[in-house]
Amino acid sequence: MEPVQDTYRPPLEYVKGVPLIKYFAEALGPLESFQAWPDDVLISTYPKSGTTWVSEILDLIYQGGDLQKCQRAPIYVRVPFLEFKMPGCPTGFELLEDTPAPRLLKTHLPLALLPQTLLDQKVKVVYVARNAKDVAVSFYHFYRMAKVHPDPGTWDSFLEDFMAGEVSYGSWYQHVQEWWELRHTHPVLYLFYEDMKENPKREIQKILEFVGRSLPEETVEDIVQHTSFQEMKNNAMTNYRTLPSDLLDHSISAFMRKGITGDWKSTFTVAQNERFEAYYAEKMAGCNLHFRSEL
Ligand code: A3P
Repeated sequence: MEPVQDTYRPPLEYVKGVPLIKYFAEALGPLESFQAWPDDVLISTYPKSGTTWVSEILDLIYQGGDLQKCQRAPIYVRVPFLEFKMPGCPTGFELLEDTPAPRLLKTHLPLALLPQTLLDQKVKVVYVARNAKDVAVSFYHFYRMAKVHPDPGTWDSFLEDFMAGEVSYGSWYQHVQEWWELRHTHPVLYLFYEDMKENPKREIQKILEFVGRSLPEETVEDIVQHTSFQEMKNNAMTNYRTLPSDLLDHSISAFMRKGITGDWKSTFTVAQNERFEAYYAEKMAGCNLHFRSEL
C-alpha cells in the first residue's frame, strides 16, 4: 500500500504539455473509454472560477428547485468531476458510471485534454470564466489548503507561476480564450462569475433557456437564495467539508473562502498589479473577451 505521506503535495505531471495534479494526470488513461451521452451537460471552468456555484445551480434546476433532493449527496457526487482522482476516494469516472441520465459533469480540462466524445456528441457546455486576478488569489489559497497540489511557495512566486501557466491546468489565458472560441462550432453558454455576482437571477434565466427548461419565477428566486455564498458555505453538501481533512484542510483556508469580486486588491502589491496588467495585455491581445475585475 502507498505510504500516506506520498499522497501529499506531489509535483505536477505534464500531459501534452499541460501541468496537472499527479492523480488527475493518472485519471486520463481510463477516461479514454468514457462515452458521453447527447443529453449530458458539461460544466467547464478554469479552477476557482465558480464551478461549485454553477454546479449547485444546475443540479437545483434539474431537481425542479427541490432543496431536499439536492441534499442527497455532496456536490462532487451529484456532478461528477471527470478527471477527479484522489487516494481513498472513488474517481469521477467511477461516479459517472452510477449516475443516471440526464447527467451533469464537471471538468477543468483544456481542450487539448478533453475527451473527444464530448465534442462528437455535441454535449452542451456551460462555461464560467472569472477575472484572472481574483482567480490567481483564490487559486493560491486553494493550493495552500488542497494538499494534492505542490507547495504554492510565497504569493509572489505563485503569481509568477500563474502568469507563466506553471500551475495545475496550465494557462488561464489560453483556457478562457479557447473555450470562448469553441462557441463558433459547439453549443457553449459562456458565463462570467462577475455577472453572476451582479445579477444571479438574470444568469440563472440564461442557464434555464440554454438547457431548455423553465421554472416558475418564485422557484428561480429560491434558487438565487439557496445558492448565495453564505448559504453554500453553510451547506455541508456544497462546502467540500465532507472530503478527508488531510486532503482539503479548511483550517488553512476554507474552500468557500470569500466569494467576492475584487479581493485581489487586498493581495496584489502596486508593482505586482502593474506587471500583471502589462503581461495580461500581451497575452489577451486580439481577443474580444472582456473581464471585470471589480463591480
Ligand atoms: P474565493 O476563493 O475567491 O472565495 P470553484 O468552485 O471553481 O473552485 O471556485 C471557488 C471560488 O468560488 C471560491 O472563491 C469560492 O468562495 C467561490 N464561490 C463558491 N460558491 C460561491 C457562491 N455561491 N457565490 C459566490 N462565490 C462562490
